[in-house]
Amino acid sequence: MKSIILSFVVCVLFHCSVLAANESRIRVRASAPTPFPQPLDESYSSDLKKAKRTPPPPPPPPYIPNFDIFMLSETWPAAFCKINTCASPIPAPIKFKIHGLWPSNITGQQPEQCSPGITVPTDIGILGSILNKLNSNWPSLIDSKDLIVIRNNKLWQHEWKKHGSCSYPLFTFREYFETGLNLYAKHDLMAILAREGIKPGKFVSKVDIVDAIYKHINFKPQIRCAQDTRNTNYLYEIRLCFTVSKTPQYVNCTAQYINCAIDQVYY
Ligand SMILES: *[C@@H]1O[C@H](CO)[C@@H](O)[C@H](O)[C@H]1NC(C)=O
Ligand SMILES: *[C@@H]1O[C@H](CO)[C@@H](O)[C@H](O)[C@H]1NC(C)=O
Ligand SMILES: *[C@@H]1O[C@H](CO)[C@@H](O)[C@H](O)[C@H]1NC(C)=O
Repeated sequence: MKSIILSFVVCVLFHCSVLAANESRIRVRASAPTPFPQPLDESYSSDLKKAKRTPPPPPPPPYIPNFDIFMLSETWPAAFCKINTCASPIPAPIKFKIHGLWPSNITGQQPEQCSPGITVPTDIGILGSILNKLNSNWPSLIDSKDLIVIRNNKLWQHEWKKHGSCSYPLFTFREYFETGLNLYAKHDLMAILAREGIKPGKFVSKVDIVDAIYKHINFKPQIRCAQDTRNTNYLYEIRLCFTVSKTPQYVNCTAQYINCAIDQVYY
């Protein structure tokens, strides 16, 4: 008999606590919407009891990017060095090199110098294990009196300050560079062009360049041309566009040609 009463009591108690848990869930949902759903585990509901006395700090505002896409801009060093004075040698291998990963709007405008509170790390030690990849794939090509390590540093700090900071807090300083390298590694643009018979050292149709990349990636790139003082039209950069995400996915770039008035470009 005792045990029957005992199990009845336990049962009632258990039922009550389950009910209480359900009620508190409802209250949590109704009174404290958070941008990211929180797991409602045991420790969370016991935290709730404390929360009655000291209200928790408000949740951080959800991240709303003020731009539409990421644009990965890849420079063709041979053209860059016809128009600018480059340090030599250009870091091997001969390939398109990363200029930057740019938060952009589909209108072509770009937010710049965002989050002034975000400091630019002066100690690039934080880039540690990706430094080698950055040095060969995201180098500063421009000539200056600085040692290469300082030159590269200046480029990375500039790119973070001007562009990368607009991706914060989606990306931290280090994540910004890791993401740039990862997106760059998806495709070798020089190899894609070569497969379509487009080789460096001659004039090619800008339409053929876009078509070749579209054929292999399935998304439309943007190409930027530039002219030297003798008005030779160079293939200067190829840009690829991506969704705004921790793991950005390809999208079509909206404009295919920037500063490419004539069709024939020197590659
Ligand atoms: C608690 O809510 C769940 C659904 O959220 C329901 O399946 C369960 O029956 C409820 N328990 C009690 C004791 O009301
Ligand atoms: C980009 O577009 C967003 C709206 O989607 C707008 O708030 C922002 O000001 C635009 N940025 C620039 C630089 O035009
Ligand atoms: C990208 O552009 C191509 C060619 O114009 C088009 O067929 C395709 O539907 C576009 N893709 C997306 C996802 O809009």
